[in-house]
Amino acid sequence: MNSLFRRKIITPVAPSDQLARTLSWPHLLALGVGAIVGTGILTLIGVGADRAGPAVILSFVIAGAICSCAALCYAEMSTMIPASGSAYTYSYVVLGEIIAWVIGWSLMLEYSLVVSTVAVGWSGYAAPLLEGLGFPHSLTQGPPLGGIINAPAIFIIAVVAGLLSLGTKESATLNAVLVVIKMLALALFVVVALPHFDAANLHPFMPYGFAKSAEAGPDGVVAARGVMAAAAIIFFAFYGFDAISTAAEETKNPGRDLAIGIVGSMIACVIIYILIGVTAVGALHFTRFANSPDPLALILREVHQPVVATILAVSAVIALPTVLLGFLFGQSRIFFTMARDGLLPVGLTKVSKRGSPVRITMLTAVLVAAIAGFAPIDAIAALANAGTLAAFTAVCVCVLVMRRRAPDHQRTFRTPFASVIAPLGIAGCAYLFFSLPTRTELYFLGWNAFGLLIYFFYARPRMTGADG
Ligand code: ALA
Repeated sequence: MNSLFRRKIITPVAPSDQLARTLSWPHLLALGVGAIVGTGILTLIGVGADRAGPAVILSFVIAGAICSCAALCYAEMSTMIPASGSAYTYSYVVLGEIIAWVIGWSLMLEYSLVVSTVAVGWSGYAAPLLEGLGFPHSLTQGPPLGGIINAPAIFIIAVVAGLLSLGTKESATLNAVLVVIKMLALALFVVVALPHFDAANLHPFMPYGFAKSAEAGPDGVVAARGVMAAAAIIFFAFYGFDAISTAAEETKNPGRDLAIGIVGSMIACVIIYILIGVTAVGALHFTRFANSPDPLALILREVHQPVVATILAVSAVIALPTVLLGFLFGQSRIFFTMARDGLLPVGLTKVSKRGSPVRITMLTAVLVAAIAGFAPIDAIAALANAGTLAAFTAVCVCVLVMRRRAPDHQRTFRTPFASVIAPLGIAGCAYLFFSLPTRTELYFLGWNAFGLLIYFFYARPRMTGADG
C-alpha cells in the first residue's frame, strides 16, 4: 500500500527532453495577467450578477481573497520545486503518487475546460461581428443554444495552438502586446461607465442571501444562488497565475521570476476586478445585464456609448486569446510532465527542434476544441473551477507539509504567515467547492473515479516518476 504514496524525487531531465529556458519575469507577469483577465470578468460577471445581484462585488472580494491565499502558496512551492507540472509535480514530490494522480487528473479538467470556456466566451463576442459579415448564426453556437456547432470557438483554439507550436518565446512576446490591449479596453470601460454610477442600482444589494441556496431569478429559472454561489463561479475570473508555475522549466531565473510573476499578476487582477465590478453594478441595474453574453459591452450600450462598446468588443476579440495561450501552454506542459513520468504515452513527450512539445500541444488542442464546439459555457466553467479548487487545496497542503518536513530547506519565496494563509486557502477552496452547483460536484467526483480506474489499470504499472 505504501507505494501508492511513493514520492517523486526531482532528477535532471535528459537534454533531448529539456524545454528551452527563454522566459524572464516580464514575460511571466504578462503570461499571468494574460491568463487571468478573460472570460471571467468579460462574460461570467453577468452570470455572477444573476446569482448574487449587486453583492457580486462581495463575491469578487471573497473569491479574490481565497485565490490570493492559494497564489502565495503557489509562489512558495513553485520556487522550491521549479519543475514543469505545477500542482501535479508538487503533490508528487510532497504528498505521494496517488494524490499527484488525482491532482494531475483534476488539472487536466481545469486546463482543458478553461480553454474550452474561454473559446466559447470569445465566440460570444466574435459572433455578432461575424454575423454582420454574413456568417451563419447556426455555426456560431453549440447545440445547447440551438445552433449546430460553435465554429469560431474551434477556429480560435486552432490559431492559438499553431502559435504555441512556433515556440515559447515568440508566443510570449505576442502575448505581452495583447495583454496591453486588454488592459486599455478595461480601463476605458471604467473611465466611461463609472460616471454613470447610481447608488439606486445597488438595491436590493443581496437579493439571494449569502450562502448557496436554490432560488428562482427574475426570469423564473431556478439555480444555485447567493453570494457564495456567485463566488464559486466568479472564482473562474481569478485563476491563471498557476499557468505561470507550469513555465518553471522554461524560466531563466525561476527563484526570483516565478515569485514576481505569480504575486504581481494576482495583486494587479484583484484591484482591476473590484474596480470593474463596482463600475458594472453601479452603472446599470444587475437584472439588465445578468446572463448577457457580453455584459460589459451591453452596459456601455445602455449608457449610450455604442462606439466605446464596439471598441471593447473588438478588443476582447483581439485580446481574449491571451487566456487561451496561457492555459493551452500550461495544459501542454502538464500533459508533458505526466507523460514523462509514465502516466501518459511517452511518445507524446517529443520536443520539436525549437524546444516546444508540439505533439502534446496538438493533442490538447483537438480535445478542447471538441468540447468548445458543443458544450454550454456555464457548465464547463463550473467544472473547470472544481478541478482548480482541488489543485489549489493540494498546493496549500503541500506548503504546510513542507514547513514541517523540511523547515530549513531553502525557500526563495516564503508565504507570509503560512500557518494562517495556507489553512485559510484550504478552507476557502472547500467552501467554494461546496458552493458550486450540485451537478458540477457530482461530475467532478465521477471524473476522478474514472481517473482512478485508469490509474490502477494503466498508469500505475508504468509510473517512472517516483523513486519507489
Ligand atoms: N481567469 C481566466 C478567465 O477569466 C480563466 O478567463
